Amino acid sequence: MTRIPGATSDLEPLRLLLIGAGQRGREVYGAEVLAMPHRARFVAVADPDPAARTRFATEHGLPPESCFADWQAALGAVGHDAVVIATPDRFHVEQALAVIASGRPLLLEKPVAVTAEGLRALREAVERHGTSVSVAHPLRSMDFFVRIEAIVHSGEIGQLVAVDHQEDVGYWHFAHSYVRGSWRRADLASPLILAKACHDLDLITHLVGSRATSVASFGDRRHFHSGGAPSGAPARCTDGCPAAAACPFHAPTFYGGLQPGVEWPASVVSPSTDPAALENALRTGPYGRCVYHCDNDVPDHQATIVRFANGAVATLTVTAFAAENTRIITVRGTRGEIRGHLASGRLEILGFPPEGFRSEARRVIQVEAEAGHDAGDRIMVEGFVEHALAVRAGTATPGMDFPEVFHGHAIAFAAEEARLRGSVVSVGVDGPSA
Ligand SMILES: NC(=O)c1ccc[n+]([C@@H]2O[C@H](COP(=O)([O-])OP(=O)(O)OC[C@H]3O[C@@H](n4cnc5c(N)ncnc54)[C@H](O)[C@@H]3O)[C@@H](O)[C@H]2O)c1
Repeated sequence: MTRIPGATSDLEPLRLLLIGAGQRGREVYGAEVLAMPHRARFVAVADPDPAARTRFATEHGLPPESCFADWQAALGAVGHDAVVIATPDRFHVEQALAVIASGRPLLLEKPVAVTAEGLRALREAVERHGTSVSVAHPLRSMDFFVRIEAIVHSGEIGQLVAVDHQEDVGYWHFAHSYVRGSWRRADLASPLILAKACHDLDLITHLVGSRATSVASFGDRRHFHSGGAPSGAPARCTDGCPAAAACPFHAPTFYGGLQPGVEWPASVVSPSTDPAALENALRTGPYGRCVYHCDNDVPDHQATIVRFANGAVATLTVTAFAAENTRIITVRGTRGEIRGHLASGRLEILGFPPEGFRSEARRVIQVEAEAGHDAGDRIMVEGFVEHALAVRAGTATPGMDFPEVFHGHAIAFAAEEARLRGSVVSVGVDGPSA
């Protein structure tokens, strides 16, 4: 069993290095770890942005010598038992490969890679080094999906035939992140199906319990382009738009009701709590742009069909055109179906009983309503910390938390290829197969 060189005694909290102290790094991993001081603490941070670094260092009481602009220097410095990577998508592979080679357990943000080649490099590195890698797929840990999985595995709905899954991003979340924001362009971040739905493809794969064989996918920018703009709309909302009063995306109204610097996504527009800073960011930065005059290219509606080796079929819709930010799932089995609505926490199990024409057995499970995945994040971080502590103590064997966790990414790469080519694409180990 591998011991991490220089590991401390089991009584000491896990010593973590954070690479990337932005929204996820600070507001999710930072906050979760601050809530478990007896199990883990951040002992170092790496971020090229001095403001992000300083803010994180202040919140975690880190001395200047534990704050790095360069992630490689941070990784080379001794003193951490495990690493969290929460940098923008395109840095993940290079950074993860270095951590995997160091042997320290890694919690890696999704998407783990933005190309099939990157995914293959990661998979091979994990196989070679046997390092523990946990992928940040918080849906897997959420009570709502854990219940669905338990029902499927109990056999209550018979043999699984299909999963119909809908990811309602919400018009407001979509406009912020995928029209104006960091995930608006596939070349800057990653394709929508990967950036937004790798969680869902992972979850579907997990429920189906089989590998995908082929995929078809359709979608484009239906609305968020210059053709959707109201007459006379200027490039920026702050430049006196004639449609301001009727537009659901008018930036000063859109962000103006949120607490500056504190409430997401106003905190992304400007980290300052000063309302004037938010106003200035809207006048000059990316989030004040008219949603019809941005440089976005990711589809705003995408429908995907996946066929699995065991014969099951899944459909996945990712859409901006929804009022709510939620996920709606139907799992179809030979003896019943499960219908779930994440934001309300309601699960219905409808059995097919042997009691005559149109008979139906209905059972309702109400779990705690949650639109986002905060609870999943918490359980995921706790699970990672406990595993890394056990690896440090020599009581757990290092390895992937879920062996098939990269497969959802492979499906996403194949789906994007299918969308761009307009044809059915075979799914290989790391993406489209020839
Ligand atoms: N698991 C989830 O549910 C979930 C949700 C949202 C975002 N994400 C993913 O988390 C990652 C981070 O997203 P975010 O919203 O926190 O982004 P962000 O832009 O708020 O934060 C990224 C941080 O990384 C820093 N950074 C950039 N280059 C770096 C480098 N070379 N070394 C170290 N730090 C560097 C930036 O300065 C910034 O502070 C992305 O990959 C995103 O796709 C995952």
